[in-house]
Amino acid sequence: MQVAVIGCGYVGLATSVVLADLGHDIIGVEIDPVKLENLSNGKSPIFEAHLQEMLDAGIKAGRLSFTDDHVSACGQAKVIMLAVGTPTRETWEIDLSQLESAIDSIAEALSSRNELNGTPLIVVKSTVPSGTTDYLSERLGSKTDKPYLIASNPEFLREGQAIFDTLYPDRSVIGANESSAFEILDELYSGLVSQNFDDSPPLPGRPDGYTSPVPVVKTSPRSAEMIKYASNAFLATKISFINEIANLCEEVEADINDVARGIGLDSRIGPQFLKAGIGYGGSCFPKDTKALHHHAGSRGYTFTLLNAVIEVNRIQRYRFLAKIRRALEPMGDKTIGILGLAFKPGTDDIREAPAIDLMRELNRDGAILKATDPRAIENAKLEFNSCEYLDDPYKVAEGANALVLVTEWPEFLDLDWKRIAMVMSGDIVFDGRNCLGREGIEGAGLSVIGVGR
Ligand SMILES: NC(=O)c1ccc[n+]([C@@H]2O[C@H](COP(=O)([O-])OP(=O)(O)OC[C@H]3O[C@@H](n4cnc5c(N)ncnc54)[C@H](O)[C@@H]3O)[C@@H](O)[C@H]2O)c1
Repeated sequence: MQVAVIGCGYVGLATSVVLADLGHDIIGVEIDPVKLENLSNGKSPIFEAHLQEMLDAGIKAGRLSFTDDHVSACGQAKVIMLAVGTPTRETWEIDLSQLESAIDSIAEALSSRNELNGTPLIVVKSTVPSGTTDYLSERLGSKTDKPYLIASNPEFLREGQAIFDTLYPDRSVIGANESSAFEILDELYSGLVSQNFDDSPPLPGRPDGYTSPVPVVKTSPRSAEMIKYASNAFLATKISFINEIANLCEEVEADINDVARGIGLDSRIGPQFLKAGIGYGGSCFPKDTKALHHHAGSRGYTFTLLNAVIEVNRIQRYRFLAKIRRALEPMGDKTIGILGLAFKPGTDDIREAPAIDLMRELNRDGAILKATDPRAIENAKLEFNSCEYLDDPYKVAEGANALVLVTEWPEFLDLDWKRIAMVMSGDIVFDGRNCLGREGIEGAGLSVIGVGR
């Protein structure tokens, strides 16, 4: 099937390479000239495991190409997917301008489209509040007389595992008003739903126990849109909940890691998203919780619980910062090494990354900063440059009064702490993710300050 994917970021690219692997013909449309140049040269502009290899394979097979020309890309496509950004404004209101501009380009493309190419299906993959697909449909209808179908098909991939999640989803959610829209997406996703594809490299292998068919939830566009927001709001709630329990553990001298394990073994609760730490970041949870809260308010509903989730997460970073300040004061002459810049392991994305906030505050305190990350240094440099960025964590430790682990990259989990202790000038390791083995660190003569223990 011929598919145009508008927006070649984390979602658009992961979707494109996977659909190309399943045998579809994909044209990715991207307006950022640097990203487009990279893609046109066969180079992924972002880091995700398996992405570059699948991009190579798709281009080599002649099933994947990129352009900035919406009209030519959408002129023949049977499916037009929207995977552009949906950031929030300062007011927490969602900013739909990227979607609106993409819809306007689609209107232009449809107006000059040859009717022999059939009626295209527009698929909204971007995360949007309930009612947005209807709004986009009205906007498109007001700008073209040509027929089209529209559906909501929210994306649930996790950055760091984008390709894996796209190939092996927990479920697929489709919201549409016409049966023909469901039929087209059934056809597009048939290989994925039945798992009828070869999972050998460059694909990540199918996980043991993964069963097909993948459940498909078919519903209205408004419910599909709400499923996405409610999922992210629930996961964010779990994180803020365990962080509050962790804060309480500090007061009563309990250990949050043991408490979380004890809670998570209850099958009604489950162990996931019960890791206490510095709080959630990234391009999704912060903006989606705020957008849902604002959306509720705009409909006259005060989402009290969600407000608390957002506030707990905001404060959590500052509680952790306060620990660093208390232990190191005065900060003026202190050198602090930061381990991890990406908002989570496995990605180069630093949107809403706790490390960037933390470094800004420590810099304001007058601390001297050194930092490392396996993938995100180049993006971090664009955001914050009052820091010496180094590839080697041992170099970051040299002369540091303290080390602060912010992202739980596997590379940081088995560092040689004796070697680190020998080059540091201080002896404190702040573990913002409660992921470091205490014995090794304390055995090297260093002390560890974590969260909730
Ligand atoms: N990143 C995630 O983990 C994730 C997961 C699930 C859902 N989502 C949602 O998916 C959407 C996309 O997220 P993302 O992280 O991939 O964003 P992104 O910022 O990485 O990518 C969006 C891309 O769209 C391009 N773009 C914007 N307007 C365009 C236009 N008119 N034509 C062509 N290209 C255009 C941008 O240049 C950018 O490259 C958002 O709504 C997000 O909330 C993201």
